[in-house]
Amino acid sequence: MEGDRQHPAPAAPRREQLQLLLLRSQEAKNCAYCPYSRFPVGAALLTASGEIFSGCNVENACYSLGVCAERTAIQKAISEGHTSFRAMAIASDMGDTFIVPCGACRQVMREFGTDWDVYLTKADGSYIVKRLEELLPLSFGPEDLKKV
Ligand code: THU
Repeated sequence: MEGDRQHPAPAAPRREQLQLLLLRSQEAKNCAYCPYSRFPVGAALLTASGEIFSGCNVENACYSLGVCAERTAIQKAISEGHTSFRAMAIASDMGDTFIVPCGACRQVMREFGTDWDVYLTKADGSYIVKRLEELLPLSFGPEDLKKV
């Protein structure tokens, strides 16, 4: 598929890399600016080159301008020249529920391929992992724009 050529399947993170990614998502959560929701979220994004970019949610008194942790991390990575991603870990304070990315974040993640991993965690660090394809099935992406 054309999409696969643009974004070759990335290698899954190694065990130590994954532990670091999970830790960095929890650390990023501590920086969350969320005085309105009081719902801190952290994200950590592993690039194909092995670097990690983290992000937190950044809210605003003009509520609609708030940005999720996942998009903060992606924008940091993109603006530092990284467009190929292996995995993202997401952390919140929810004890009984795995944090899941909102629909807008799923679409922004999908822009950079459908075959990378997203680690959804609980506050205790336990996780489940989902491929982007699972989080956003039948997605629209950059390849579709070339089909007309
Ligand atoms: N939020 C995230 O940053 N990521 C998610 O996965 C879900 C929600 C933020 C947005 C807002 O600042 C707060 O959590 C409550 O919705």
